[in-house]
Amino acid sequence: MTNLILPHGGTLVDRIAKGAERTRLWDLAKELPRVVLNEREISDLELIATGAFSPLTGFLTEKDYHGVVNDLRLADGTVWALPITLAVDADTAGSVKLDTLVALTDRSDNTLGVLTVQSKFKYDKAEKASKVYGTQDAAHPGVAFINARKPVFFGGPVTLLVDRKPAFATHHRTPAQTRAHFAEQGWQSIAAFQTRNPIHRAHEYLTKVALEYTDGLLVHPLVGETKEGDIPAGVRLEAYEVLLEKYYPKQRVLLSTFPAAMRYAGPREALHHALARKNYGVTHFIVGRDHAGVGNYYGTYDAQRIFDRFTPAELGITPLKFEHTFWHKGLGEIVSEKTSPGPKEQHLVLSGTRVREILAAGGELPAEFTRPEVSAVLRRHFAAS
Ligand code: ADX
Repeated sequence: MTNLILPHGGTLVDRIAKGAERTRLWDLAKELPRVVLNEREISDLELIATGAFSPLTGFLTEKDYHGVVNDLRLADGTVWALPITLAVDADTAGSVKLDTLVALTDRSDNTLGVLTVQSKFKYDKAEKASKVYGTQDAAHPGVAFINARKPVFFGGPVTLLVDRKPAFATHHRTPAQTRAHFAEQGWQSIAAFQTRNPIHRAHEYLTKVALEYTDGLLVHPLVGETKEGDIPAGVRLEAYEVLLEKYYPKQRVLLSTFPAAMRYAGPREALHHALARKNYGVTHFIVGRDHAGVGNYYGTYDAQRIFDRFTPAELGITPLKFEHTFWHKGLGEIVSEKTSPGPKEQHLVLSGTRVREILAAGGELPAEFTRPEVSAVLRRHFAAS
């Protein structure tokens, strides 16, 4: 059929119950102890079930958890970057026996799936924060999330029982669906671009340099939970649409959503983002400056260096590493630290904070920084909020 890249671990995981098995589990779930998932855990459940987090078949067991936190590997040695976990309170942990099933629900008590509790374990919040986020500072959104979390993890395989309507249905594609698209297009090499921001000119440059080398580009914005202050996914999608319409070769680009929550874990999250995109069928992954960073917790290129700890065969996917890019006023084009002839005074660099200030004051972003069509979408959003 095709020569698409293999999923991480070799097989695309599918933990969605079908037919009679679904009916059986659905009926059984009514009698089971109920575990309420938060938004992040729900999105993790769906990403596991659809294979985006292959080879995971469920939430991490204790062995896998320690392997990932300490060595960036699952217990069987497979590279894995972020602990994907399900937290429960002490009472639930005490009342549920190992190797039994629990029902997974949302906050309104709707059943979403089931989990076989293979492992239950307490975890050290400070250790997790230091090792995963590189800090224990509660101002870091990932650390704040851990601090507020329930104290015990349940690990084990999950089965998804419902087909919830995705938040942005038009652009929603599971890993199997993006893979089918790439196969149909006959693309062999595909670069993925992860983003949680509008695509400004510097981002556009990265994607177009990547497209010079690959058959196709997957613009894969993260649309799960983000921190306050980030532009909402719906607004961003509108901005991506207007940008792609005018500035990209349509037949070589696929815009699709990545329904994951943002962790702001810098280097670890860059690796996680890349491995997940391999499951969506891409061969190359763009990693620029301070990927998945927040504040000043990570070095500018730490998220690129983490890939050097593994062999190309262990990763499977190839990181495309880019230095800081920006508009050069003298040259009238986007350059990077690598290609700019200098001097620095010729560089147009706007911080995220400055961009938000301009938009909040009703101002226009410079056309050298953001395409006018994108700027118009953002201005409308800020005017309405
Ligand atoms: S992220 O949290 O998804 O990494 P963002 O949407 O800002 O945030 O970045 C998307 C990708 O573009 C990341 O790989 C990031 O490193 C890269 N990037 C963003 N801005 C620049 C820039 N000016 N120069 C180089 N790379 C950049």
